[in-house]
Amino acid sequence: MQTYHVPVMTKEVLYYLDCKPGGIFADCTLGGSGHAKAICEKIKPDGLLIGIDQDKDAIENAKNALKLHLPNVRLFKGNFVRLSEFLSELNISKLDGILLDLGLSLHQIESSGRGFSFRREEPLDMRMDTESGTTAEDLVNELDEKSLEKLFKDYGEERWARNIARNIAKARKTARIGTSAHLSEIVCSSIPRKAQSKQKIHPATRVFMALRIVVNRELEKLSLFMDRAAELLNPGGRICILTFHSLEDRIVKQKIREFEKGCICPPGFPVCVCKKTKILQKLNKKALRPCQEEIVLNPMARSTKLRAAEKLQQGHA
Ligand SMILES: C[S@@+](CC[C@H](N)C(=O)[O-])C[C@H]1O[C@@H](n2cnc3c(N)ncnc32)[C@H](O)[C@@H]1O
Repeated sequence: MQTYHVPVMTKEVLYYLDCKPGGIFADCTLGGSGHAKAICEKIKPDGLLIGIDQDKDAIENAKNALKLHLPNVRLFKGNFVRLSEFLSELNISKLDGILLDLGLSLHQIESSGRGFSFRREEPLDMRMDTESGTTAEDLVNELDEKSLEKLFKDYGEERWARNIARNIAKARKTARIGTSAHLSEIVCSSIPRKAQSKQKIHPATRVFMALRIVVNRELEKLSLFMDRAAELLNPGGRICILTFHSLEDRIVKQKIREFEKGCICPPGFPVCVCKKTKILQKLNKKALRPCQEEIVLNPMARSTKLRAAEKLQQGHA
């Protein structure tokens, strides 16, 4: 059976989350439950892990992967922006730690059959939550050429966005673009061979990433989540976030900075009028990267960045 996922930077995640017996933690991106299992080991015998994923496959997998810990686990299928709603259902108001490990699981890329990989002939779906939302096929076939170009530029930083959008618009006049292989073929034919040979990544990587980000509204959800996450932590509670591309990392970095800043009144003001207080303290100055050995063993780890922060004790503001 194919491995569901290989968790990234597990040692570092456990260190920054500071999981202790009896703690209450939320893993908001369960995936293959690798991190969740490691957290369960640390918080036993009487801790609680709240596991969330918007992909029903991850929840099904967790029931088996976490079977030894199930009395100490509560699973929720849904978007992590609903974390406070899930906590209310459990009558829990605050957490000792929150983990976000963004992006896709190996299962979603390799065996979900949803067109995440440009190397496969699969329906162009790309939804992590297959029960709602627009598919990549809808976007590729229905967005006008200019909007497609903007999407590839804004979310994929794709240099050849204009050519690609033009060729998609041309191709779909003949037949609907319905599979990952068909889209990949159009993208590859839109980038000059010379430019392709200079790239280290597959020519369709950026376009597939851009579509996936938009289909799952990834940046919008991350931003919303980061706005509210600190409220849900106990004083001394930790948040640890693993990102896989610069757009995600930028959001995480900026949000932590905002919560670290506190008062935003102009320096000349005699008294504070904004009433904002410092809520988080970052735990690592620069984003942490996986070590070389981990990247060799698990190439999916190569672009990971870890950022972590701690909620300040009350009265520290
Ligand atoms: C990289 S995997 C997590 C791997 C996991 N840490 C492990 O140890 O196996 C990312 C998971 O997060 C889920 N996910 C991504 N964005 C989400 C969101 N906004 N809400 C809920 N789940 C999300 C995906 O469906 C995927 O299963």
